[in-house]
Order: sequence, then structure tokens, then C-alpha cells
Amino acid sequence: MSLQGKTIVVTGTASGIGAEVARLARFQGARVIGVDRNEPSLTLDGFVKADLSSPATIDEAVARLPQHIDALCNIAGVPGTAPPDVVARVNYLGLRHLSTQLLERLPAGGAIVNVASILGAEWPQRLAAHKALAATAGFEAGAQWLAEHPVPADTCYQYFKEALIVWNAVQSQPWFLQRGVRMNCVAPGPVFTPILGDFVAMLGEERVQRDAHRMARPAYADEVASVITWLCSDAARWVSGVNLPVDGGLASTYL
Ligand SMILES: NC(=O)c1ccc[n+]([C@@H]2O[C@H](COP(=O)([O-])OP(=O)(O)OC[C@H]3O[C@@H](n4cnc5c(N)ncnc54)[C@H](O)[C@@H]3O)[C@@H](O)[C@H]2O)c1
Repeated sequence: MSLQGKTIVVTGTASGIGAEVARLARFQGARVIGVDRNEPSLTLDGFVKADLSSPATIDEAVARLPQHIDALCNIAGVPGTAPPDVVARVNYLGLRHLSTQLLERLPAGGAIVNVASILGAEWPQRLAAHKALAATAGFEAGAQWLAEHPVPADTCYQYFKEALIVWNAVQSQPWFLQRGVRMNCVAPGPVFTPILGDFVAMLGEERVQRDAHRMARPAYADEVASVITWLCSDAARWVSGVNLPVDGGLASTYL
């Protein structure tokens, strides 16, 4: 599989899965432009320092990104130990805004990959709400809808990963039909990255122990990165609108 000649924008390149995707995509021939609030510690072909939690700072970043982009990987994210407002802005509203702003720079055959989570698996329980949020016209309209439909603070991470999976499914249809741009999610289980400890704190010992017996181990970031770069490649040219678990089989044990 090759990403030779492709320009790929990767958010979250300063750490964890985003850093690993950047490294692997460059190895596979891509030109990688990173976006993060923190400086990256690996070699990139370009880097835009940006806080992805507000439309104004996202627009400033967009102005500094290339005019031609073959793929966008939305990987930056915060755990549920962050304030709920920040979780909403970074993990959902900002991700949506960045994708929408960059869409016109993606050619037919381009790809967007969003990182959801196994913790978004219960989206069917709140499908109507997630569809209503997905239908809001942009960042501010989404924030307004959320002000009118408050999300419980202790499960806000799960809520916005669910919302992302539903937005991905709904929005990928017109973007693929009208523009030939594919959009997909991956849903990792636990991954050995710096925020794994936050997830343990967020979920509590009981849930962590329950899951621990259902999987061999957490993933290494490269095991998630290889699926993300595959979704960016032409080998995945007929894959769109899916949410692909990358969890060592953990989600299947809950059936
Ligand atoms: N680690 C896991 O167990 C796990 C499991 C499922 C899903 N995920 C998801 O994977 C994605 C990557 O997480 P990770 O595990 O690599 O974590 P990480 O903390 O190692 O990396 C997250 C990156 O996002 C960046 N970021 C956070 N807020 C930002 C902001 N406002 N503006 C710009 N950049 C910002 C951070 O600086 C960091 O570089 C996240 O969306 C996370 O929800 C992680």
C-alpha cells in the first residue's frame, strides 16, 4: 500500500495515535502536515500550531494549510477528564468545522478519517438526538443546540464519540455522492498513549477490570495507525461511511 505523492493533514501529531499516523504516512510516501496545540517531536513536512477548540483559531489554521489536500485525519482529542465544554468543542464541534472548511480542498478520491472510540458504541440509544445535532448548520449552531440539550458531564466523552459516529455516517453520504470524498471513523479500544490513564480515571476500576478480561491487551498506537493510513489510501476507495472497530475484538465481546 502506498500514499506516494499524497498530501495528508493530520491533527494531534504531537502525541499518541496522531504522531504514529504521521510517522507511518511519511514512511508510506505521503507529505504530512501536522496540526496540534503542542509542538511535534517527530519530523513532519509542515506544522501548524493551533488550538482546535474554537472556530476562529481553526479558521486561522485553515488559512495556513495547503490548497490541495488528499486526506484529512482528525485525531486530536481530549479525554472525559477535561471540562465537558472542551470535550464538545475539540472532539466534535471543532472536528466538524475543520472538516467542512477543508472539504473543498479535497479532490474526488480524497478521504477524511475520524477517530471515534469503542466508548461511542452506544450511539443507537441516542440516535434521534445525535441526528438532530448532526443536522445543525455549523459550530455556533451546534453549540447553541447543546446549550438547549445539556449533556451529562460524567459521560460527555462517550456522548461526543457517539455523536461523531452518527455525524460521520450521515455526512459521509452527500460528501461521497456529490464530491467523491470518502469519510470514515475508526473506533479504537484502549490504546497505550499518554491519555490511557485519563480513561481509567474516567471509567472507574470496575469497568476497566471488566474489559481487561475481554481483551489480550490495549493496542499499540501503530496498530491503529496502520488502519487509518489504509483508509486514506486508494486501496480503500470503495469504503465510506463506516465506523471500523480497531480494538482486538473487544467490541464483539459485548454482543
Ligand atoms: N488512547 C486511547 O485509549 C484511545 C481510545 C479510543 C480513542 N482514542 C482517541 O484517539 C485520539 C487520539 O488520542 P491519543 O490516545 O493519541 O491521545 P494523546 O493525548 O496522546 O494525543 C492527543 C493529541 O491531541 C492534541 N490536542 C488535544 N486538544 C487539542 C486542541 N484543543 N487543539 C489541538 N490539539 C489538541 C494533543 O496536544 C495531543 O497531541 C483521540 O481522539 C482519543 O479520543 C484514544
